[in-house]
Amino acid sequence: MYLYLLGLVVVYYLYRWLRELPRVPDKGGKYVYITGCDSGFGNLLARHLDKQGFRVIASCFSEKGEEDLRKSCSSNLLTTHLDVMSQDSVAKVAAMVKDKVGERGLWAVVNNAGVSIPSANCDWLTIDDYKSMLDVNLNGVIAVTLSVLPLIKKARGRVVNVASVFGRVSVTGGPYCVSKFGVEAFNDSLRLNMSQFGVKVLCIEPGFFKTNVTNCAILTKNIQMLWDRLPQEVRDDYGPEYLPKTFEVLAKKVPMLSDGDLMKVVSCMEHAVSAVRPRTRYSPGWDAKLFWLPMSYMPTCIADYIFLKQAIPIAKKI
Ligand SMILES: *[C@@H]1O[C@H](CO)[C@@H](O)[C@H](O)[C@H]1NC(C)=O
Ligand SMILES: *[C@@H]1O[C@H](CO)[C@@H](O)[C@H](O)[C@H]1NC(C)=O
Ligand SMILES: *[C@@H]1O[C@H](CO)[C@@H](O)[C@H](O)[C@H]1NC(C)=O
Repeated sequence: MYLYLLGLVVVYYLYRWLRELPRVPDKGGKYVYITGCDSGFGNLLARHLDKQGFRVIASCFSEKGEEDLRKSCSSNLLTTHLDVMSQDSVAKVAAMVKDKVGERGLWAVVNNAGVSIPSANCDWLTIDDYKSMLDVNLNGVIAVTLSVLPLIKKARGRVVNVASVFGRVSVTGGPYCVSKFGVEAFNDSLRLNMSQFGVKVLCIEPGFFKTNVTNCAILTKNIQMLWDRLPQEVRDDYGPEYLPKTFEVLAKKVPMLSDGDLMKVVSCMEHAVSAVRPRTRYSPGWDAKLFWLPMSYMPTCIADYIFLKQAIPIAKKI
């Protein structure tokens, strides 16, 4: 009986593997526009798709990012400066893309650019802190997508959004989870509205990976800055032990949780861009599959209990 079940599972995975194997033809005629190619997933994806023969338009925030990519990729790869917070910049790149792709249209846009600071407890932040991150992680994704959507409809192409497991469970304070939940909502409504045009909308929800988003030094420095800015009264609520303990937990947990194999995520992105039958949802990383996603299906009282057990105690605990 068990063998029979095991057989069924094996057959299912084999079937899925075969079904997901075929790739789209004519890669050399397909343009892919990727945001956030300075480092991390975007950088690797640009190189990877370039090697496979796609025509990559890699947008970077920094000049150095552009230079490095140009040096290490084929002459097919184009780079451009993009600041997703600036409407002008987004429009300029969209015009360039339109000019390049011509009648073929744009095969895919990969919304990868994102930031993870400022992140701290909600009561440490101002509305401007929230706005600064939402402008990149959420409004940036929407702006870039809308700016090239007509070109994607023309190619019956794809929109690939990089959200996060934190778009499924909200376990950090501050705007990060808000922005990623927003991306998921945008992904869902866009998918429904684009389906009659033959445009596919795909979403990648990585767990913890070693990128700037999970860089401990960057996170720690930012938290220290936010703490120094707090009124004494709020600092007293938390007590003198709170900040050192926070840093300790960060320094211990983030490296332990973060997977160094960025290719796990990049392979999912590549599949979303190039497979004939892309998967409906990708959750790369064992922590995503085994912990964060199951947590997202838990009743609130159970999830809260588990997360609060981990919380660092404050001085004036009620
Ligand atoms: C990633 O972090 C490094 C070191 O702090 C920084 O130099 C680089 O500009 C960051 N990359 C991006 C894309 O923000
Ligand atoms: C767009 O999506 C909304 C729901 O998100 C739906 O009510 C509406 O019918 C959709 N329009 C098209 C053309 O699919
Ligand atoms: C995003 O859209 C894809 C299909 O286009 C859907 O299968 C997936 O569930 C959506 N992602 C999320 C996280 O809602």
